[in-house]
Amino acid sequence: MRFASLIFIFWPHWWLAFTTKAAIVPSLDKPSIESIESIQNQTQTKIQFQIQAGDTNSTLKLVHVVFRHGPRTPVNTYPKDPHINNTYEPYGWGHLTNSGKVELYKIGKQLRQRYKDFLEPYYKPDMIHAQSTESPRTLMSLQMLLAGFFPPENTPMEWSYLLNWQPIPIYMDREENDLRLRQMVPCPRYDEAVREVMNFPEVKKLHEDNSKLLQELTEITGLNVTYAHDVTNVFISLHAEQSYGLKLPQWTKDYYPDRMRSLAAKSYQYDAYTLELRKLKGGYFLDHMFKEMQAKVAGTLEPTNRKMFIMCGHDWTIANVLAALNIWLDEMLSFSALIAFELHQRNDSDEYFVEIYFQNDPNGELKQMQVPGCGKQCPLEKIQELSQNVLPDAPYEQLCTAKGTIEGARISYH
Ligand SMILES: *[C@@H]1O[C@H](CO)[C@@H](O)[C@H](O)[C@H]1NC(C)=O
Ligand SMILES: *[C@@H]1O[C@H](CO)[C@@H](O)[C@H](O)[C@H]1NC(C)=O
Ligand SMILES: *[C@@H]1O[C@H](CO)[C@@H](O)[C@H](O)[C@H]1NC(C)=O
Ligand SMILES: *[C@@H]1O[C@H](CO)[C@@H](O)[C@H](O)[C@H]1NC(C)=O
Ligand SMILES: *[C@@H]1O[C@H](CO)[C@@H](O)[C@H](O)[C@H]1NC(C)=O
Repeated sequence: MRFASLIFIFWPHWWLAFTTKAAIVPSLDKPSIESIESIQNQTQTKIQFQIQAGDTNSTLKLVHVVFRHGPRTPVNTYPKDPHINNTYEPYGWGHLTNSGKVELYKIGKQLRQRYKDFLEPYYKPDMIHAQSTESPRTLMSLQMLLAGFFPPENTPMEWSYLLNWQPIPIYMDREENDLRLRQMVPCPRYDEAVREVMNFPEVKKLHEDNSKLLQELTEITGLNVTYAHDVTNVFISLHAEQSYGLKLPQWTKDYYPDRMRSLAAKSYQYDAYTLELRKLKGGYFLDHMFKEMQAKVAGTLEPTNRKMFIMCGHDWTIANVLAALNIWLDEMLSFSALIAFELHQRNDSDEYFVEIYFQNDPNGELKQMQVPGCGKQCPLEKIQELSQNVLPDAPYEQLCTAKGTIEGARISYH
């Protein structure tokens, strides 16, 4: 037995030495020691993740995981917000919180459970490709998830007796080039097409039906709450304030979350309401993923022992990918929401098929999703065929040229 193992036996909670340091920081967002201990408790790991991927008649070949960053401090506020001057110490605005770190570390452990037989017994650089958007909260979220996913203890990658963590590279495209994950490359036609959607009769009607709510929210918040997107903005700000630990003002009791939720969730749908909108956002993600799957099938994927792509983005990333697959998202997205795409090969026919799993709330369940027109095990060719009309078919600049159909400011949430 190595000396290091003795340390672990006599000081099993050595890692608390790091986590308890957080207690001296005047943060409202301190994860309790219990919640950290529960991470170590494998019996609490969710059932869905304990079921390992795949069945006995097929073999898992390649996995793409894309998830939203974890709980963060607000990026946005509203004029009458009592917390408008909060500095969100010690993080600042828009950053991953300590309980957010715990949540992602836990999800990393769950992924380990699900994919432990698929992946090599320990981390090797060729095995996974980790990619984040150009944003501090996604970069930090991905680091936390990887820390839970690939602890080096008792593997040939173990390098320290005191720190059960190893460095794993994270790749990133600059925002101005990241069509796939960040999806914020300027696109005049996209902005125009969203404005067109707001004039569709059923969309107009929904806003008219909710005009009282919109007007009340305008008065209460001091924001111009005209569109579902504006409700989403307020909803997300309140959600972030609450998960940081702030007390929400009295008025919210009648509005948040229940009365605001369905309208707030609509902006995710409107942003990907037409095939054209889906092509400009989620289409780029799908196109890239399908090419990687095809390369795996053809044996041309480099490096050859690549088994997983793991990517961290934003709520719109997740919503746009689901929408591009024609999977309707009818709920608000949680922090840390995750989609897993699994490419399997059948033993008998050698055919490849894709399974899709979605977990919105990290305390909820991992749900298997079905692309309309296909089964839960959708043949690779079939899922590509069904997605054909959202895959980019011209250069981005060309797809993004405005048609001059409608004037106005950009309609979006943050
Ligand atoms: C782990 O969780 C289970 C279920 O909640 C509980 O019964 C058990 O006591 C926990 N074990 C430890 C060591 O905390
Ligand atoms: C595996 O294939 C057999 C024979 O086709 C079938 O009876 C069985 O249900 C399959 N198992 C699973 C888990 O799909
Ligand atoms: C299918 O292949 C996997 C991996 O090679 C193997 O574990 C499993 O037993 C095979 N199933 C059948 C029904 O041959
Ligand atoms: C925020 O700070 C400004 C400038 O100091 C002050 O006028 C305002 O009353 C403050 N708002 C709140 C809600 O504390
Ligand atoms: C609110 O925004 C809408 C849409 O941009 C605009 O038409 C309207 O004039 C604005 N109202 C106020 C009071 O600013």
